[in-house]
Amino acid sequence: MESIVISLGGSIISTDGLNLNFMENFARELQGFGGDYRFGIVVGGGSLARSYINDLRKYGVNDNILDEIGINATRMNALALSSFFADSNSKIPVTVNDAAELARIYRFTIMGGTEPGHTTDTVSTLLAERINARIMINATSVDGVYTDDPKKVKGARKIPSLTYDEAINLALSKSVGAGPNVFMDLTALNIAKRSRIRLYVTKGTDLSEYRRIITTGSTSGSIIG
Ligand SMILES: Nc1ncnc2c1ncn2[C@@H]1O[C@H](COP(=O)(O)OP(=O)(O)O)[C@@H](O)[C@H]1O
Ligand SMILES: [Mg+2]
Repeated sequence: MESIVISLGGSIISTDGLNLNFMENFARELQGFGGDYRFGIVVGGGSLARSYINDLRKYGVNDNILDEIGINATRMNALALSSFFADSNSKIPVTVNDAAELARIYRFTIMGGTEPGHTTDTVSTLLAERINARIMINATSVDGVYTDDPKKVKGARKIPSLTYDEAINLALSKSVGAGPNVFMDLTALNIAKRSRIRLYVTKGTDLSEYRRIITTGSTSGSIIG
């Protein structure tokens, strides 16, 4: 059986409220895969997390607590998503260790974040490493890795394929200044590199991408590794 991990960006499922329509279609698409595959899905916090964090930050709440709040948001999103899957956990694991045990039981193991300082992309690569997934799909708000942030820089170009070191250097060069807005954080990239987990960065709302990546190994987004 092949293991696939998906980092489902918060922006995909939580925009103005929960994207229930997407969740339903996403679950239908993945459940269409036979028993040859099992999935680990790590869900981000999206607007639910952001609304709490942005408001509380104004009151000087420290980053550790803001992260805890964000993590709780990811777990709420994860629990909501799990409702759409027939063969998934209905209790959200709080560690990769526990998620790995659930992955022995369920075809779909769904979780959110784990601890402050770790993004859900990092949790995804750790889960991929743990359950021997060879690929991790970063289903995000942009359709690939660009030479610059495509939401800010006009003329940024998509990079179809990068080595781990190229991705790490790109993330490093963009990590200056405020805001964590890189396509994927360095910890996640380094975990993927050490265990040679191939990363796919693609637009998460494009449902056809999941089947394309899983069955053909190609993507309209970017491949790292
Ligand atoms: N070089 C880059 N290539 C692609 N996206 C980038 C790059 N640099 C910054 N970004 C930004 O990274 C973000 C990745 O999405 P993110 O905010 O993590 O949402 P999600 O929770 O859906 O993953 C996008 O907002 C995108 O604009
Ligand atoms: Mg992301």
